[in-house]
Amino acid sequence: MSDIRARILSVGTYVPEKVLTNAYFESILDTSDEWIMTRTGIRERRVVDRDNPMSAAEMGCRAARAAMERANVSADSIDGIIVATFTPDNFFPSTACRMQADLGCRDAFAFDMSAACAGFVYALTVANNMIVSGQAKTILVVGSEVISKTLDWSDRGTCILFGDGAGVVVLQADGVKSKGIQSCYLSSDGSMGDILKLPAWGSERYLSMKGSEVFKHAVRMMSDASVKAAKRAGLSIGDIDLLIPHQANIRIIQSIADMLSVPMDKVVTNLDRYGNTSSASIPLALEEAWTAGRVRDGSKVLFVGLGGGFTVGSAVCII
Ligand code: UT7
Repeated sequence: MSDIRARILSVGTYVPEKVLTNAYFESILDTSDEWIMTRTGIRERRVVDRDNPMSAAEMGCRAARAAMERANVSADSIDGIIVATFTPDNFFPSTACRMQADLGCRDAFAFDMSAACAGFVYALTVANNMIVSGQAKTILVVGSEVISKTLDWSDRGTCILFGDGAGVVVLQADGVKSKGIQSCYLSSDGSMGDILKLPAWGSERYLSMKGSEVFKHAVRMMSDASVKAAKRAGLSIGDIDLLIPHQANIRIIQSIADMLSVPMDKVVTNLDRYGNTSSASIPLALEEAWTAGRVRDGSKVLFVGLGGGFTVGSAVCII
């Protein structure tokens, strides 16, 4: 392996201003704040304006500008943009190309990736490999989703769960081997594609999910992926300072923490305020933990996500 490591210099995020509380869903559906809180842990979520929706590219740009300012990197120094999203404005041009133009990242390569809620870890892994191989020095890794436009607002089993938002990390080459991304693990199981999906064509273009089935696979697959990434980094789960899982359901996160014997004070959760933002959830949680001082120089952070496909990914990063 090369001596180059890819370090996370900074993270930036953006969430729309509009807040949908559980009380809103009580007013349109047969549901209750009590059910949503106890079954999911979600109190509220942010959504774009339905009449004038912000795009995944626009949210991604806002998050990217915040991340670039924090890292003190200019648009000119960005070599590439990788966007994880299942809610692009177009099949093409990609969300990443739109961002490349809007941010003014001259000559940067740009492409989108589809791995649903594991998208951020997939994009981070690809970016890491491009940096370690010397193909790029600085990459924006983006998770940006406008999930509200994919929801069936009469389906209480799905529409209460999701929110919109974006998160971006600046990943840069560094020669310090003890810092940066230490390991990545990716896997998929396409045989379970039908239990969580969003068709691209046809009349029923809504996100659908068999929630309880997804739940049990999510716990098993994310726990397993966490152990694998730690092992590839030469660490045990006990060495990890902070676990940042995809934010889908507080009971899933607690079950993973239980299976891994990780105390909840080492786990970052913010889904109470944002719901499930798919590929944006891990950078949103990272940003919150970093701002709160929970991420420090040398912190060993484990990211893990699972999404429709099924896709699963995990990575260990030393900050
Ligand atoms: O991000 C990608 C991965 N996604 C996930 O990881 C999500 C995984 N799944 C989940 O988070 C949970 O399965 C849900 C929160 C979606 C559902 O919780 P659950 O405990 O698995 O409930 P369930 O689907 O087994 O449904 C239990 C009952 C059903 O009623 P019956 O059939 O028992 O009478 C549902 O119709 O709860 C009902 N229900 C609701 N009741 C009130 C489902 N949604 C609601 C609701 N309000 N919003």
